[in-house]
Amino acid sequence: MDHGLAPTGRGPMVMRRAQAMARETAMATASRTARTATVTAMAFATGTIAGLAIRTAGRAPQAASGALSGIVCPDLALQFTAEFFLPDAIHFYEPRDGHRLPHDPFNAIVGPRPIGWISTRSAAGQNNLAPYSFFNAFNYVPPIIGFSSVGYKDTVRNVQDTGEFVWNLATRPLADAMNASCAAVAPEVSEFDLAALTPVDSRLVRPPRVGESPVSFECKVTQIVQLQGIDGVKVPTWLVLGEVLAVHIRRNLLVDGVYDTALAEPILRGGGPADYFSIGPEQLFRMHRPR
Ligand SMILES: Cc1cc2nc3c(=O)[nH]c(=O)nc-3n(C[C@H](O)[C@H](O)[C@H](O)COP(=O)(O)O)c2cc1C
Repeated sequence: MDHGLAPTGRGPMVMRRAQAMARETAMATASRTARTATVTAMAFATGTIAGLAIRTAGRAPQAASGALSGIVCPDLALQFTAEFFLPDAIHFYEPRDGHRLPHDPFNAIVGPRPIGWISTRSAAGQNNLAPYSFFNAFNYVPPIIGFSSVGYKDTVRNVQDTGEFVWNLATRPLADAMNASCAAVAPEVSEFDLAALTPVDSRLVRPPRVGESPVSFECKVTQIVQLQGIDGVKVPTWLVLGEVLAVHIRRNLLVDGVYDTALAEPILRGGGPADYFSIGPEQLFRMHRPR
């Protein structure tokens, strides 16, 4: 029986990736068992995953489970092929022992991440603005967002002292300003000035919002948690959680009353020293939950 874990047919990029994987796997497995070599050679010979077919008789247990998920969810059958399950196909590491790669892949993998562009005001009344990509939303009702400060930075000190912050949406047109606002400057310097941004009074909290940003949330702090490892030892990182009390949305982003994510052109942080992504309508696809 032929389950045909076969053609992806998803364009040149997929083909190139498939060729590279097939080549790599073919080299890594040259001396392996005949069954494995046959599977790999088929992929290499055809130059694409499209030519790869796994036959029940010779299938590794993992590949068989791949075929099973393909039956449950037909799309999976198109995407996963036997070489994905070979031991050498996976780079494995335990972070505490090092990743053995030129760059730590951690934040490139957990990415792209939305950016928490956080404005605060110090107890002395100084405005502060800084981007935090360890940021996300965590609850609907009440709406709760959070960001994590690696190191005890001005923002954490301000939220600890005042209990308030504002989140501002970082967009493609505001990318340079967002970047400028991350400069490590003395607490008495306002990043609003550095980045030539306009502090606009909030309605319910003291920190201003970024006037140029099309969306802002006024927040009050609900929890500040100093993180710790499994050994219970605290690390110098603080997770700040806050309830969203007020929301500002520029009206042009409401299309027939529905907020249009892509229209706002949000930017997201990838990995490495400089990778960002921006979102446009071409990244949108829809998928409903199974009933
Ligand atoms: C896109 C971007 C994302 C960042 N994300 C974080 C983060 O998640 N946590 C963090 O501690 N620092 C992060 N930083 C660095 C801070 O923005 C930087 O240390 C800043 O000076 C902190 O400002 P503050 O001392 O006024 O709070 C990020 C910088 C950029 C440009």
